[in-house]
Amino acid sequence: MSEEKEKEVTETSEAEIAVHWGEEEYINPPRSFVAQANLTDEKVFERFSLENFPNCFKEYADLLDWYEYWHTILDTSDAPCFKWFVGGKINASYNCVDRHLAKNKNKTAIHFVPELEEEKVEHVTYQELYVRVNEFAAILRDYCGLKAGDRVTLHMPMVAELPITMLACARLGIIHSQVFGGFSGQACADRIIDSGSEYLITMDAYYRSGQLIDHKEKADIAVAQAAKEGQTVKKVLVWQRYPGKYSAATPMVEGRDVFVNELLKDTYGKRIDPVPLPAESVLFLMYTSGTTGKPKGAQHSLGGYLSYVAGTSKYIQDIHPEDVYWCMADIGWITGHSYIVYGPLALCASTVVYEGVPTYPDAGRSWRIAQNLDVNIFHTAPTAIRALRKIGPDEPAKYNYNFKHMTTVGEPIEPEVWRWYYNVVGKGKAAIVDTWWQTETGGFLCSTVPGIDPMKPGSAGRGVPGIHPIVYDNDGNVVPPGAGKAGNICIQNPWPGMFQTIWGDRDRFVRQYFERYCKDPNSKRWQDWPYMTGDAAVVAADGYVRILGRIDDVINVSGHRLGTKELESAALVVPEVAEAAVVPVKHEIKGVEPDMYIALKPGFEASEELAKAVSAAIVKEIGAIARPRKVWIVPDMPKTRSGKIMRRVLGAISNGTDIGDVMTLANPEIVEAIQKMVQGK
Ligand code: WTA
Repeated sequence: MSEEKEKEVTETSEAEIAVHWGEEEYINPPRSFVAQANLTDEKVFERFSLENFPNCFKEYADLLDWYEYWHTILDTSDAPCFKWFVGGKINASYNCVDRHLAKNKNKTAIHFVPELEEEKVEHVTYQELYVRVNEFAAILRDYCGLKAGDRVTLHMPMVAELPITMLACARLGIIHSQVFGGFSGQACADRIIDSGSEYLITMDAYYRSGQLIDHKEKADIAVAQAAKEGQTVKKVLVWQRYPGKYSAATPMVEGRDVFVNELLKDTYGKRIDPVPLPAESVLFLMYTSGTTGKPKGAQHSLGGYLSYVAGTSKYIQDIHPEDVYWCMADIGWITGHSYIVYGPLALCASTVVYEGVPTYPDAGRSWRIAQNLDVNIFHTAPTAIRALRKIGPDEPAKYNYNFKHMTTVGEPIEPEVWRWYYNVVGKGKAAIVDTWWQTETGGFLCSTVPGIDPMKPGSAGRGVPGIHPIVYDNDGNVVPPGAGKAGNICIQNPWPGMFQTIWGDRDRFVRQYFERYCKDPNSKRWQDWPYMTGDAAVVAADGYVRILGRIDDVINVSGHRLGTKELESAALVVPEVAEAAVVPVKHEIKGVEPDMYIALKPGFEASEELAKAVSAAIVKEIGAIARPRKVWIVPDMPKTRSGKIMRRVLGAISNGTDIGDVMTLANPEIVEAIQKMVQGK
């Protein structure tokens, strides 16, 4: 999700954006939802007010079991590297597995759904999870010789073995760094090098769109590349998609590669005590890459992070122990770490891990999974919602599932798309939370509290309890709620889920996230270190935050700054439009003009009339100033493997500049087709 997002702070220059959006109406969460919600007490906002900061977060820490209770809730002596729950000792694997055994050992912890429908769904109980985590931890400790503080790179697909591997690392305090399975061997190498990993854990193969893909191949590239840059990988541990059978064409490398299933034969029945670790030790690294600069490892803490994801899973995701919870994200992204693995398992929920593509083999697949597993909490991203709507707008009605709660995350959701999600996917019976946050933040920043607040399509909501957003303009003045102007959204206070630093690069951490609005670089007070998210946002009079996108994506036409999402939302008002992406094109007089790219729902043909309708919609919703230079109706958008539209590529095509490397795209072939259309070559 993160490739498109990074630009260093220093490049950011525009932070006051006029907003043209109309206000959307409130929609109340269904009464049936509120009646059972974990959090309905409005006083929570008082309890978590700035006056009660930081002590309010004791509530979250108390959701966990501690070996030793902490003595200092927040230590700011090394600001802005904040330490939470200092003095406490805790273990994440214990909290997500062992502590549930007494009452729930026979309950499903993980439902693993293979992509092929003819394969059996695997239901891993808490007891089985416990056994498998222990046996794998024995390999890490006794075969690999790994210990607390060592880093290990994981490059695994969406299989039950991935959370098992993560929890085994956590049991010993080994810092895992899971690289999104769809990333290349080179991307994996970059992360092996930066983290200094001596072990790589992978899987031979996995299914994607019906193909059994050779994944081991990427391990060979990763290890070779890492070696070239001086980082030796001693062993590659290879899980098998089909235990006992090798499913990749790439040969195993003698002396280096070893099958986990072979090693497990020696560790059957072994039990490894969870290691009590200081709360401020590192649980994992999550790399977030940018269009510029090398990927940075967001370093997440153990006690603070786990408390925060447990708290937000309980109150914002509304997870109860009896719920079946399905988050469609990939565990290779932060959403998967926080809200597939650590949050839900800390609360003893049943969490779904789905191997493949939501639309394989057809548009009904997701809803069949929901029906068959009786999923009642559903979590996905606007890009997936748009894709599902595009190819199967009437599919959800054909299936009998009951969602009480749904989440959208990852980018702003157009109100049109929100309404389809609410009415068609949720059948008007589910509460929706639009959760705005980042890899760096560990957990949610803004969202409605689903049992308390009404929903507003397109708006994330207020800061969640204990998060206090503030919007600054370019000069550091506060843009107050209701001002009708957007600016650079920051968070006034630290919170337990916030990353500790960028792995090995504290200077970059300070520079990128704090320098710009820091009140005093020598200060040890948290009040002087607002966290800069890099997003542009507008806050309505009711305190609801609406995210416009990355501050760098703002388009400046003749001095009018327009948020990309506003223009795209306007295009989506035209019923035939499935997806929209806007990019700036250089113009001698205006500075830039918007070029609008559109993909249609199936069954509709591109036409001059449609292009005109899109243009007219933008003029109507936003104004003539925003009229696109051209509306290009394309067969599909260039997308990253995580589904984000690559505006950079479209921008380069519109401007006739260098497109750069597109091999990491999910659909590189589309680039040429669009280029032909736009540049006539
Ligand atoms: C964007 C994903 C609007 C935002 C959890 C942020 C959103 C970036 C939302 C982080 C949302 C995420 N509404 N925009 N609900 N959620 N974003 O690190 O620009 O992959 O800064 O974390 O996605 O992406 P990341």
